[in-house]
Amino acid sequence: MLYERLIRPLLFRMDAETAHERAVRELELLGRVPGGAALLSALVGRPEPGLQTKVLGLDFPNPVGLAAGFDKDCRLTRVLPALGFGFLELGSVTLRPQPGNPKPRLLRLPLERALINRMGLPGAGAQAAARRLNAAGRCKVPVGLNIALNADCPKAKAPEEYALTLRLLHPNADYFVVNVSCPNVSGLRDLQERLQLERILTALAAVNSPHKPLLVKIAPDLADAQLPDLLGLIMRHADGVVAANTTTSRKALCPELGAIPGGLSGRPLRSAATAMIAKIHRLTDGRLPIIGVGGVETAGDVLEKLRAGASLVQLYTGLVYGGPSTVVRILKDLRSLVSAGGFKTMTAIIGSEAREAP
Ligand SMILES: Cc1cc2nc3c(=O)[nH]c(=O)nc-3n(C[C@H](O)[C@H](O)[C@H](O)COP(=O)(O)O)c2cc1C
Repeated sequence: MLYERLIRPLLFRMDAETAHERAVRELELLGRVPGGAALLSALVGRPEPGLQTKVLGLDFPNPVGLAAGFDKDCRLTRVLPALGFGFLELGSVTLRPQPGNPKPRLLRLPLERALINRMGLPGAGAQAAARRLNAAGRCKVPVGLNIALNADCPKAKAPEEYALTLRLLHPNADYFVVNVSCPNVSGLRDLQERLQLERILTALAAVNSPHKPLLVKIAPDLADAQLPDLLGLIMRHADGVVAANTTTSRKALCPELGAIPGGLSGRPLRSAATAMIAKIHRLTDGRLPIIGVGGVETAGDVLEKLRAGASLVQLYTGLVYGGPSTVVRILKDLRSLVSAGGFKTMTAIIGSEAREAP
């Protein structure tokens, strides 16, 4: 309430990226002050217990995590668990620092509860990320590192550059995500081509020692015909999939907004992302762990993705519109929905929609 009435109108007066940077700076400061995270936790409330789950061999206090892109430079691991997140996905981190695309590159669509971004993966690079994570110490919840390519990396060097990035960051994460689906870096979506992805995953496996779960983040815009092949490859060379990244489709928007370039996230992405999760679950017989992401704002949205086949769920845009108490609120409602649905464990929910279908 306080966020929606007072803080959000102030933040929304600023350009979207400036507001984001300000929020990150203030959260980072809070994380450095002794007792800062505890203060934040007292303000937003305690996350609901009884939602723990085990996925990819890791223990999660709850299945609702932060999606990649919010904490690109790994600055907030001390403070974000206080918002109730069950895990954090940081990055995308690239091997070398890069500025990203020219500004403005992040736009709010408040009526649609959506964002369009063409950030182009700006960031301080893998060495800076590793330094920050080392200094911050162990995070209270599992941490995934999402890795991506620098814009100037030639395609032939992609496997080597991904492998170098993973090696630099290996001690700092519980799982890794290969981002081959960012719509804002030219050429990156081509990596979904079978051979190239196979080379990348093989190079990553060679340096991923001791083994940590490796997932592939895919676009929601993949054609149905591409999926079986791609999923077969992911099942052979990786441990799971993150579905989905932002969309280049504008089907869910009115025509006036259709021409804005970039990746669309938030509410208009929700049902396409859930449909993608259901397809992956069906095509892999539920054998490939899925992190579901896209348009999650409520406990009902989380349940929808779990029932479609996701083992874990993430959000980003929902946090921008819902504010810092979003996750705690979702968890409280999720606990009630889980009890009302008669589910004994979180695992029992995963893919339940397909099992109940006539
Ligand atoms: C401003 C912004 C930056 C993002 N940056 C990244 C990124 O660096 N790497 C990545 O894999 N996904 C990135 N994403 C995509 C999100 O992780 C997520 O897949 C997508 O936004 C859908 O979730 P949402 O509707 O909850 O935002 C970004 C999204 C936004 C809005």
